[in-house]
Amino acid sequence: GAPVQVDISKLELGQRVVQEWRGQPVWVVNRTEKMLEGLSQIEGSLRDPGSEEDQQPPYAKNQWRSIKKEYLVLIGTCTHLGCSPLYEQEPTVQLDHGGFFCPCHGSMFDLAGRVYQGVPAPTNLVVPPHSYLSESVIIVG
Ligand code: FES
Repeated sequence: GAPVQVDISKLELGQRVVQEWRGQPVWVVNRTEKMLEGLSQIEGSLRDPGSEEDQQPPYAKNQWRSIKKEYLVLIGTCTHLGCSPLYEQEPTVQLDHGGFFCPCHGSMFDLAGRVYQGVPAPTNLVVPPHSYLSESVIIVG
C-alpha cells in the first residue's frame, strides 16, 4: 500500500482522527499536557513501559512513543486478536489516566499505546512508520 496523508490542522486538543492505511486504522491523537503527564505516573502498571520488546520506528522509541510529543500515531488494532480498542480520553473506572480499552477481552493500553500488565494483549500497540510533511500533515507509510 501507498503512504497516506493525515491532515492534523483541525485536530483539537484531546481529539483523535482515524485514517485507513493498508487496510488498517491509523489513529492520530492530539494529546494534552495532562494526558502526557499521566504517562509517567502509570509506568509501574505497564508490561513494557520502555517499549523494549515492542514495535515502533527508532524515532518513536522514547517516553511518548512519538516524534512530536503531543501527536500520538498508532495502528488502532488490539495486539490480542485484532479488535478495535475504544479511545477513552477521560479517566474511566478501568483507566485512571485515560487510554484505550479493548471491549473484546478487556485489554487496556495507556495514551502512548502501552499495554497494562495482566491483560490478554501481549504487546504494546504498534506505531507505524510516519513522518511530517509539514506542521499540519503527517505521512503514514
Ligand atoms: Fe483486544 Fe482480545 S482482541 S483483548
